[in-house]
Amino acid sequence: MYRTNTCGELRITNLNQEVTLSGWVQKLRKMGGMIFLDLRDRYGVTQLVFNQETDAELCEQAGKLGREWVIQVKGTVAERSNKNLNLPTGEIEIIASAFQVLNPSETPPFTIEEDTDGGDDLRMKYRYLDLRRTSVRSNLELRHRMTFATRSYLNKLQFMEVETPVLIGSTPEGARDFVVPSRMNAGEFYALPQSPQLFKQLLMVSGFDRYFQIVKCFRDEDLRADRQPEFTQIDCEMSFIEQEDILTVFEGLIQYLFQTIKGIDLSRFPRLTYAEAMKRYGSDKPDTRFEMQLVELKDLTMGKSFSVFDSAEYVGAICVEGGASYSRKQLDECTDFVKRPQIGAKGLISVRCETDGTIRSSVDKFYSPDDLQQWLHRAEAKPGDLLLILCGETEKTQKQLSELRLEMASRLGLRNKNLFHCLWVVDFPLLEYDEELNRYFAKHHPFTSPKIEDIPLLDTRPGIVRANAYDLVINGIEVGGGSIRIYNSELQKKMFSVLGFSDEQAQAQFGFLMNAFKYGAPPHGGIAFGLDRLVSIFAGLDSIRDCIAFPKNNSGRDVMIDAPSPISQEQLDELYLQINLPSK
Ligand code: AMO
Repeated sequence: MYRTNTCGELRITNLNQEVTLSGWVQKLRKMGGMIFLDLRDRYGVTQLVFNQETDAELCEQAGKLGREWVIQVKGTVAERSNKNLNLPTGEIEIIASAFQVLNPSETPPFTIEEDTDGGDDLRMKYRYLDLRRTSVRSNLELRHRMTFATRSYLNKLQFMEVETPVLIGSTPEGARDFVVPSRMNAGEFYALPQSPQLFKQLLMVSGFDRYFQIVKCFRDEDLRADRQPEFTQIDCEMSFIEQEDILTVFEGLIQYLFQTIKGIDLSRFPRLTYAEAMKRYGSDKPDTRFEMQLVELKDLTMGKSFSVFDSAEYVGAICVEGGASYSRKQLDECTDFVKRPQIGAKGLISVRCETDGTIRSSVDKFYSPDDLQQWLHRAEAKPGDLLLILCGETEKTQKQLSELRLEMASRLGLRNKNLFHCLWVVDFPLLEYDEELNRYFAKHHPFTSPKIEDIPLLDTRPGIVRANAYDLVINGIEVGGGSIRIYNSELQKKMFSVLGFSDEQAQAQFGFLMNAFKYGAPPHGGIAFGLDRLVSIFAGLDSIRDCIAFPKNNSGRDVMIDAPSPISQEQLDELYLQINLPSK
């Protein structure tokens, strides 16, 4: 028997018991004639004591143990004289009577403790060692508890987990596909699913009624803190439902997770239309933990000979509480922030409402104190506050203000990780216009149904047609998204024609789904949550990488197994592939 107990289990109630533990040597301290050794496993750390006076030879051997050696130890549970109340096992220690080395270890490249000395790259290369650290492991434990609770909630509601294939054709989710060459079908490729979208809809045609799957999805897009090329969705679909049913069931799932995992009771989630979200926050995924909403000033700024504002389609501001005390340097930093290429604003205009009530601005030449007072009044600014103003094309400027809003909130410490604000954003536009390609694209995907009352607009003003599509946003992060699907073949045809597909193209790409819909498709709809994003919000992480066991780095590489990597000429030949790298 390797062990009678785990390293996280023994308490003062186990005093005097003879126990056997197995685990990794975390730390060894020699003090006088004693050796104290912290033995670690997944469940915790237990202190072992070797005493020179009672067993000199054992003590000498223990002194030779190194970090991360795997040992088995026998001993007796004793009360510690120097208790460590931060540790669940901190009231006891094991007086060792024998031990055995199960496996020695090379000196690890970084210390496996909370405050490790290993840099990011090193820890990624030795991810299996990093996973021994409590903080990293606890993120995965949280992830396990969340998937377990998700399955339990959905199972109770009759959802059935069905696996869908990974080697498929392209799915219409809008990112680039990862492709896999087929040896048996020369010159042909599978694509890895960007989501199981089409399969879950087919399962509704099959009558499965309520489907879910915790499933890997693959998207070849640029990496960010909340994006990985392979990530996991909680993917769901339901039949004979309307949008309201989906929102209710899945608001329930999120509330259940918060309640069971974090002990937090969340009241009903507010809802905001896409149009409102853009107007008030400049974003379709607003962080609603703080206010600082966008204020439109165009009408108040017109006709005072300030051509920058006069010629702009939109003039908008945010009010930064207490910002009037900002130094010149701090204001310059704000200007530099909005001028960064990622944000793209040309400049930033500020109006200070000093604590004594005087108003100072960077546009005093054009606007009287009364004019500026009107702006401040609209923005509900108090003495001591600061207005930051941007102008330009409406949507672009709203997005820039949104970035500035988030930046200022971070500076003011308003993005509290222990607060959770959930929000449904509904009524997304059905279509998005691509200026470069001069055509409409489906904002969600081509099977998303338009709002019935907007269908006539498909012919006249497709750009303003609203969809039965919704996103769940938590603390400014898009955690999930879905829609009610089109199940009527005439409407589907219409949709394809608006998207510029010929009948033949639609048939070639989605023929199997359209055929399936000829055999009795029920009304249906669904949603998918990004599990990695959900877990990272629950854990208060800045990147989803930290809740994935073996994530990719920023260049999409797994540096531990060194993937992707070239393949042999034989493999290439077998797949009828030729590598044709561009010259540098
Ligand atoms: P969507 O494309 O909105 O919808 O994806 C659903 C959720 O998946 C998460 N997500 C990601 N997480 C990590 N890395 C990525 N690269 C990544 N991309 C997306 C987000 C997102 O909200 N088939 C539809 C769902 C449906 O209509 O039912 C879909 O995939 O949290």
